Amino acid sequence: MPATPSTSPTSNLGADPGQNQLNPIFARPGEATDFALDRMPQSESLPETAYQIVHDEAMLDGNSRLNLATFVGTWMDSYASKIYAESADKNMIDKDEYPQTAAIETRCWTMIASLWNAPDPAGAIGTSTIGSSEACMLGGLALKRRWQLARRAAGKSTEKPNLILSSAVQVCWEKFCNYWDVEPRYVPISDEHKVLDGFELEKYVDENTIGVVAIMGVTYTGMYEPVAEIAAALDRIQESTGLDIPIHVDGASGGMIAPFLQPDLVWDFRLERVASISTSAHKYGLVYPGLGWVVWRTVDDLPKELVFDVTYLGGHMPSFALNFSRPGAQVLLQYYLFLRLGWDGYYKVQKASQDVAVFLATEIGKMPAFQLWNDGTDIPVFAWQLTQGYTDKWNLYHLSERLRLKGWLIPAYPMPDNLTDMVVQRVVVRNGLSRNLAESLLADIVEAVAYLDALESPMPTEGLVTSFTH
Ligand SMILES: Cc1ncc(COP(=O)(O)O)c(C=O)c1O
Repeated sequence: MPATPSTSPTSNLGADPGQNQLNPIFARPGEATDFALDRMPQSESLPETAYQIVHDEAMLDGNSRLNLATFVGTWMDSYASKIYAESADKNMIDKDEYPQTAAIETRCWTMIASLWNAPDPAGAIGTSTIGSSEACMLGGLALKRRWQLARRAAGKSTEKPNLILSSAVQVCWEKFCNYWDVEPRYVPISDEHKVLDGFELEKYVDENTIGVVAIMGVTYTGMYEPVAEIAAALDRIQESTGLDIPIHVDGASGGMIAPFLQPDLVWDFRLERVASISTSAHKYGLVYPGLGWVVWRTVDDLPKELVFDVTYLGGHMPSFALNFSRPGAQVLLQYYLFLRLGWDGYYKVQKASQDVAVFLATEIGKMPAFQLWNDGTDIPVFAWQLTQGYTDKWNLYHLSERLRLKGWLIPAYPMPDNLTDMVVQRVVVRNGLSRNLAESLLADIVEAVAYLDALESPMPTEGLVTSFTH
């Protein structure tokens, strides 16, 4: 049935009584006073009204600076905001129309290839992505295609590819395996092997293994996986079986921390087995959400069949991404930060975050209620568990709820296989969590624990589940 034209200020917005409605407090003559939440209004409204409604709804979100659950950047300076506003209209795929943004993208990943010690950064190949998820998918796809090409050339089956991962991988790898029909082989973490470290790797690897994922900054805890040890285990496997298995390093967070804070740690292209590395520029690359990077050691590590040609300044540019259109502004923001901070500036920012993380971890570790899982010295992230036998009145989910009353978003969640009975709580320290704020957080944790300890009877546990996803 066609919509009935309406002259009434409210009915023209299609808001049925009893339906979910927004009820802003505007009362301009002739203007709507409520909007249906789930149907497009029939007619226009003033931009001021629409703006205010969107603005007010977004205000109901948590305070991003107090969001210690996320790895993703929540602060950039005013010059970055200016560049963002000036370039919000640029589409990254329009390389012919925006050749300078395209050139800047190449400069950025070449700088990153050099940060990651590619043998010849000019001979590497890389691309910007929407984030680490897309970057990991591309890394995984290249592993799969290289394996397929080698198997076909040898006249062997390509039916059952598998990928070796820690049970603590981020969900993007589960997606990769699901979407691209690769069997995930999870190596469970344990108290003795808190991360994938090459232990018993030979039990998981076979001729159908397309690669091993090593994580620099495990999402659950922030710990680095020892890429060199994993590579050494694969060297031994190659000696005994002849299987030459490459590594993709998922450096979502650590890829932009290790080059500055642990420059002597050998985890990157210095290891020949590392074929590709990905990172989230919007994590410790310090850019607002929407940017990741993936770099391959050499052009030969990225099978040519996966690369498409995009016209660029009358010439051609390789394109290898899952998305076609996507924002170009973040690439410019990354370049701004590279120029603005340089190596020294990145070092200072990351070191300041690490100092705050180590301060918080040390103080939380001193509290009898808690036992640290790690101390924030890899990426500035650490997790703790409740000391066994400390209390039967409350758990970390209750503490998380209590801290939320003060605005702090600090999730509690179970660990992955084989430690699913263990619940931890994690703090991600990012640029913007100052020492001052950290001291306030500590005071709030002490106060919350004192409150929970003083309860006369245990907190209810019905319906307590983590809403947190990695
Ligand atoms: C280790 C790891 N890999 C991949 C991702 C996915 O990153 P993004 O959110 O940039 O897609 C994350 C996100 O936390 C992560 O920690």
